[in-house]
Amino acid sequence: MNASSKDASPNPIEISFELAASRSADLTPLVYQRLFDEHPETQAMFRSQGSELVQGSMLALTIEAILDFAGERRGHFRLIACEVASHDGYGTPRELFIAFFAVIRDTLRDLLADEWSIEIARAWDQLLVDIDAFAGATA
Ligand code: HEM
Repeated sequence: MNASSKDASPNPIEISFELAASRSADLTPLVYQRLFDEHPETQAMFRSQGSELVQGSMLALTIEAILDFAGERRGHFRLIACEVASHDGYGTPRELFIAFFAVIRDTLRDLLADEWSIEIARAWDQLLVDIDAFAGATA
């Protein structure tokens, strides 16, 4: 670590992903297990062949978009608006699309357990509200 490495200190959203990464190498199985438990209809939406690749890539891109949305807003956050529209085509209604962000939050919360701080919880609550407004405004 040195002073020039990054201008701002990491925000609570970033910290939550960093803590999760130190506890689990791959969030993908945890996130999709939770998604399929909470929204069983989503399992059949993914293709039967090669769905792991698509699921892994969808999660990685979503996390990139979340980090950008919560941070510098350089551009990756725009994926959220684009994908609301294209997921309409996959038969994913907006409420379900938004629910994916809550599934990610809940996965992190369970993984972090006692490291899930009030600051992290508040930042995620606000993030979900902001993403809902952002996706709603563009739909
Ligand atoms: C529960 C909510 C969601 C469901 C059920 C869902 C469903 C799907 C499905 C079925 C595909 C694959 C289509 C195919 O087979 O080609 C897909 C791809 C994708 N989704 Fe989602 N999605 C959800 C939420 C999101 C969110 C919130 C984002 C990002 C903001 C996102 C980003 C993407 C991207 C980028 C791809 C393309 C992945 C690739 O092929 O590289 N999805 N989604």
